[in-house]
Amino acid sequence: MAKQSDSWGSRIGLILAMAGNAVGLGNFLRFPVQAIQNGGGSFIIPYLVCFILMGIPLLFTEWSIGRFGGKKGNHSTPYILDSMSKRNWWKYIGVFGIFTNVAVVAYYTYIESWTFIYVIHTVIGTFTQMTQAEVSEFFVQYVNLNGSNFGIPYLPVLVYILVLGINIYILSTGLGGIEKVAKIGMPLLILFGAVLAFKGWTMGAANASAAFPDANAWDGINFLWTPQYGSLFDPKVWLAAAGQIFFTLSVGMGSIQCYASYLKENEDIALNSLTSGFTNELVEIVLGSAIVIPIAAGFLGLDWIIENAGFGMAFQTMPYLFVQWGEIFGAIAGICWFGLLFFAGITSSLAMGTPWMGFMEDEFGWGKVKGALSFGVLALIMGLPTILFYQYGYFDEYDYWAGTVSLVVFALLEMILFTWVFGMENGWTELNRGADIRIPIGYKWIMKYITPVLLLLVLLSALITPEGNNWSAAFASITTGEGWTLDPSSLISKLTHDDLKLLRFSDPENGEFYDKKILFSTLARIQMLVLFMFIAVLVWYSGIKRKSISHE
Ligand code: ALA
Repeated sequence: MAKQSDSWGSRIGLILAMAGNAVGLGNFLRFPVQAIQNGGGSFIIPYLVCFILMGIPLLFTEWSIGRFGGKKGNHSTPYILDSMSKRNWWKYIGVFGIFTNVAVVAYYTYIESWTFIYVIHTVIGTFTQMTQAEVSEFFVQYVNLNGSNFGIPYLPVLVYILVLGINIYILSTGLGGIEKVAKIGMPLLILFGAVLAFKGWTMGAANASAAFPDANAWDGINFLWTPQYGSLFDPKVWLAAAGQIFFTLSVGMGSIQCYASYLKENEDIALNSLTSGFTNELVEIVLGSAIVIPIAAGFLGLDWIIENAGFGMAFQTMPYLFVQWGEIFGAIAGICWFGLLFFAGITSSLAMGTPWMGFMEDEFGWGKVKGALSFGVLALIMGLPTILFYQYGYFDEYDYWAGTVSLVVFALLEMILFTWVFGMENGWTELNRGADIRIPIGYKWIMKYITPVLLLLVLLSALITPEGNNWSAAFASITTGEGWTLDPSSLISKLTHDDLKLLRFSDPENGEFYDKKILFSTLARIQMLVLFMFIAVLVWYSGIKRKSISHE
């Protein structure tokens, strides 16, 4: 059991690793899409409020409980949470903090593998002669999005295994290796991002074409940065903003707690947590918003982006746009874009490996190599179906349950544990011990009351999102006795597959496809449940082991 096994080499290494954990694909792929889909300037205010009222308190909490648990020799959430309460069932809540990482890394590494192969395709000039439609189709073929049969996409599987292998190798070198990657990857990422952002900010209308005569990069920038106050009353935008804050900061996952558990007993957490959190926000708001949106607006116009905003833009549109800048700069831009995505991804996926390794080391004495390899095997078992059945939504199912819902549930529970069970007074003392700054006292109140209430509201509103996300109409129809009609995007509708059933109903020609989607979504859920149960059994068994050791 429990021994201090590893520690961070330097403060800068720790901050870069923590910032690298946070700065990820979410900053460059998820943020711009969320911002566009939620009205640009309408999104920014709720987003910043969520950062201040949920993001920062969760960072404080996770760093505090991580360092607290680490002091007692625990490096993953089951026993970190266990050490904070007398009730021994908290360790089962801590299962979330390993589960989420394994489930998320499974599909996250898949995206990472796309960025890897796209760097190579950029270098060898695969996209240079392609039309926009061909570049888009190239991605569709690669991920087998149109796959009408169950053929194995060999190349994506091979590249996935290669990228997973790189992760496993680095993980096997311990915190030192992770720190090294962060020290190289983070500055490079910022440099690559700065090159593209500079282009995004300066291209203006220079790339407008006959097909898109009104294209202007400034329209994209203005769309994002002109505040719209009407959204303050739109729960849909608040939900999206909160979801983005969780994902981008990596809170509610279990990886921050794990990294923080390797801190020294009196090492500052107040300033360090804020520094890494603000670094993430700076990268997200300054760089994340200055690449895809303005560049695509500069070529295709804002209307095109609003209509086509989606995750695929990064792979289906950007390579074509870069080529329009000419052979040399086009290649540089492509390498910068996919290179920055790769570094953003790997510094986050490495963090996702550490909770499992920490747990296996603490409880079963597994060394780094065994821990990293076993993590790789788990990730592969979880990840392969996301590649093979990508077109049937296996990937999306993981992203929704493990990458979205699980974060909010765990964040709420750990917040209650920290501020109410462990107690806010104890928590405040823990947070401020060794602090290099004074945290405004108001945060004590925010953490105890505001954050848990907001988390609960986020969860409840996701659970029962009303039809069309129209809350005022929903409340009105309750008062007139018409009841509450759920939106297909609500958690309950997703749980019962009502969202897919509705699509099947409105599109009977593709009935077979939707039946398969329902089947694979069920299988993905079963697989996630089995993973959760497997980790819970390990936690249960480790509890028995701990008891028998303490009786010896
Ligand atoms: N925080 C990581 C990201 O933004 C998971 O991608």
